[in-house]
Amino acid sequence: MLEISRFTCENLEEYCITDVERPAFSYAVSSDVPDTTIKKATLVVNDWTLITTKQIAIEYQGAPLQPFQVYQAHLTVVDNHGQVAEASLSFEMGRLTTSWQAQWITDGNYRFTEKKVSPKPMLFRRFVQVSKPIKTAKLYSTALGIYYFMLNGVRVGQDYFAPGFTSYKHQMQYQVYDVTMLMHENNELTAIVAGGWAVGTFVMNRKNRITADRQALLAELHLQYEDGTTEIIFTNKQWEVSVEHAFRLADLYDGETYDASIDKSDITFHSASVEQIKINPHLRATYGSLTRPQEVLTPVSQTEVKGKMIYDFGQNFAGVVQLTIKNARIGQKIIIKHAEILHPDGSLNTSFLRTAKATVTYICREGSQTYVPSLTYMGFRYISIEGIQSDDVIVEGVVLHSTLKQIGHFETSNPLLNQLQSNIVWSSKSNFVDIPTDCPQRDERMGWTGDIAVFAPTANFNFDMSRFIDKWLIDVQSEQSKTGGIPNTVPAQGYGFPETMPQMAIDFWGDACVLVPWQEYQARGDLRILERFYPMMKKYVKACKFWAGLFSVGKHRYIWHTPSVLHFGDWVAPDVEKMSQWQKRSKWTATASLKNTSHLVAQIAQILGNKDDAAYFNEMSQQTAEAYEQLLMDSNGRLSEEFQTGYVLPIHYHMLQESIHQKAVNHLVRLIENNDYCIGTGFPGTPYILFALADNGRSDVAYKMLLNTLCPSWLYQVKMGATTIWERWDGLDEEGNCPIGDDGTDIMISYNHYASGAVGDFLYKRVAGIEATVAGYREFEVNPIIGGELTYTNAHVETPYGVIRSYWRLEGDYVHMEIDVPVGTVCHVKLNNQSVETVSHGHHVFTVPYYNEMNQSMSANVLD
Ligand code: BGC
Repeated sequence: MLEISRFTCENLEEYCITDVERPAFSYAVSSDVPDTTIKKATLVVNDWTLITTKQIAIEYQGAPLQPFQVYQAHLTVVDNHGQVAEASLSFEMGRLTTSWQAQWITDGNYRFTEKKVSPKPMLFRRFVQVSKPIKTAKLYSTALGIYYFMLNGVRVGQDYFAPGFTSYKHQMQYQVYDVTMLMHENNELTAIVAGGWAVGTFVMNRKNRITADRQALLAELHLQYEDGTTEIIFTNKQWEVSVEHAFRLADLYDGETYDASIDKSDITFHSASVEQIKINPHLRATYGSLTRPQEVLTPVSQTEVKGKMIYDFGQNFAGVVQLTIKNARIGQKIIIKHAEILHPDGSLNTSFLRTAKATVTYICREGSQTYVPSLTYMGFRYISIEGIQSDDVIVEGVVLHSTLKQIGHFETSNPLLNQLQSNIVWSSKSNFVDIPTDCPQRDERMGWTGDIAVFAPTANFNFDMSRFIDKWLIDVQSEQSKTGGIPNTVPAQGYGFPETMPQMAIDFWGDACVLVPWQEYQARGDLRILERFYPMMKKYVKACKFWAGLFSVGKHRYIWHTPSVLHFGDWVAPDVEKMSQWQKRSKWTATASLKNTSHLVAQIAQILGNKDDAAYFNEMSQQTAEAYEQLLMDSNGRLSEEFQTGYVLPIHYHMLQESIHQKAVNHLVRLIENNDYCIGTGFPGTPYILFALADNGRSDVAYKMLLNTLCPSWLYQVKMGATTIWERWDGLDEEGNCPIGDDGTDIMISYNHYASGAVGDFLYKRVAGIEATVAGYREFEVNPIIGGELTYTNAHVETPYGVIRSYWRLEGDYVHMEIDVPVGTVCHVKLNNQSVETVSHGHHVFTVPYYNEMNQSMSANVLD
């Protein structure tokens, strides 16, 4: 049977409300009849009909869509066997250009001048009386700060941290909530607005009031009555406000203090004031993926340590703790602290949170009650609780992250690798909190560009990143400096590093503006991503070239050696001790980065039909590659200063002449062997080291590294009980203590940082063997590299065309392979790089002879 397995509007399977004037539709089909292809698809939206075989990002081209209207899209697909499938969805237009009647309102009496703390949350209120039957009630709202509404005591929606984190001065999201079912005759509408990213403390030096001096709210309640009339209730001076209420404190780093003992009738409200906000952002209906509660964890153990109850959730994660309390006395104070690790004596180790207090204080009312923080989050595995007997409280962990569909699964016969995959997925969840963050626990949680630059390919295997990343890339583009540089964190929001040279281009971190859209294009096949972001990429790479060439002549103009103190170099490389030593490697990492980004931009220019640009960037790429080989290596491909990343990058980016290339591989292997197969790479080398080996005949070494459990390695962390990826390879010694001292990083030690989890790309692409050869997986390879004594691997990925599955298992001298190929795609099946067959849609089973020698070193020893 032919079925439409996915039908989306603006990449949303669920109901979409959008301000995109020409929304885009995508679909995938599945069928149990082999060799199915789509003969024709008919998409009808309104009066507009399109007949196509295209499946990805079909833009609506009919008459202009009207604000606030609901539309139907209907899709009929006919295949080559004459089977027919149909699907429908409805979507709604946002406000488009409709101006707001609402005014931004605030508490005009509240003067917030303190430094390094967040403002008091503001509670807004408005009573709404309705005298006739309501057909629909919809709330359009946003805030400077983070907010949610309550209507008649019921929380509106499930979103945390709305309106989300964007480059506020350029664009902000507003939300649309259907509150029809919550409306009564007499209604109390309240909104709590905390400081969040816009007004509260943010970045490690705890700046506050970055976007506004105090919080502000903008909202309209659109009422449509059964009799056809309409009414809009909007924020203005008629609303009331108070800063003295149950929420005593709310800060993204410090936590929340909630006083439930306060009698609501004791709160004194006064009139709200109209606020002149300092920014003029483009307001658009939510186009990213807001954070919501995603699952609930039950503690795996509880122990009393030094008079405090310590709970272990068995999993490091980002979220909050929910308390279900009984027998409470009014005024009883419960304090919860959060940490990722314990001290050897079993107490919480909060040293690495730096200034983040990560503390929740709850003051009880009498009797039974439940409480869950709603204006903060923490990164933790363990908590301590004071102020209540454990018999009187049920503790649960509420996992918070952006709503992203998990589309990938990877499993193999080695349980440690499976735990590594789980750790990668959990670090992703923990750091996909509205924007891609570096970590969820200490006083950062910022949109560090370098982290997602290296992690994007892995992220795209495990999650549908489309809306989340598109939203973030819009901010990257908005925040690009006039001279082409990209801030190191996006949204920069108070973090101007490098403050002295904000215009400067920084390798790898700035590269996010090329690497991330390129990876999105590979995963999704939506050409519009490249079209939209091409100007940003081009400008950035030109800036890189400018900085590389400054104060240099001849070939040296391509060696990017601008002051290493402004670059991050081989960030967190475990083979050197100090931050300054990572940074000193930026001459190598930056030069390789210039070669890679200029090569990618040339490729993108080619795809977009811009031949002149393609030639220009190709030339730049080639010159840079030559400079690396000629100026940084000797004639035997040996680096004057040897380190793993210094070889990985030119090998993986194909920067060297053939004769030198293999020699460099052998130098890399020598370094690795001398290092007991332990990892020595920082952010730039980590994603590629196993590719550099496996793709050059040394899958034996790649597997030894991947499966190594000595420190530092991926599986060392697993062996030490990690449930997420660590920022520092040597984050804990064998005794469970952190050995890292004063290394210039201000105790930069997180146990939930996804960057080194970039090896996930290798797991899918080489261990399971799934790799797109045409963007969006219209054509792909399944080419597992068998090794590491693995006996089977089972992986699947939901691509834009449907689910690809790659399963292999060893059976004596044979490999049994099973592959699912989605409708509309072609798969080139290989095994250890040897071609097996090219197949189209269907379930395919192969039994292929397998010789262990194939897996041995295939590289000749070309070292002189
Ligand atoms: C962050 C990193 C980030 C780095 C840049 C750190 O503090 O946590 O992940 O990329 O700074 O230097």
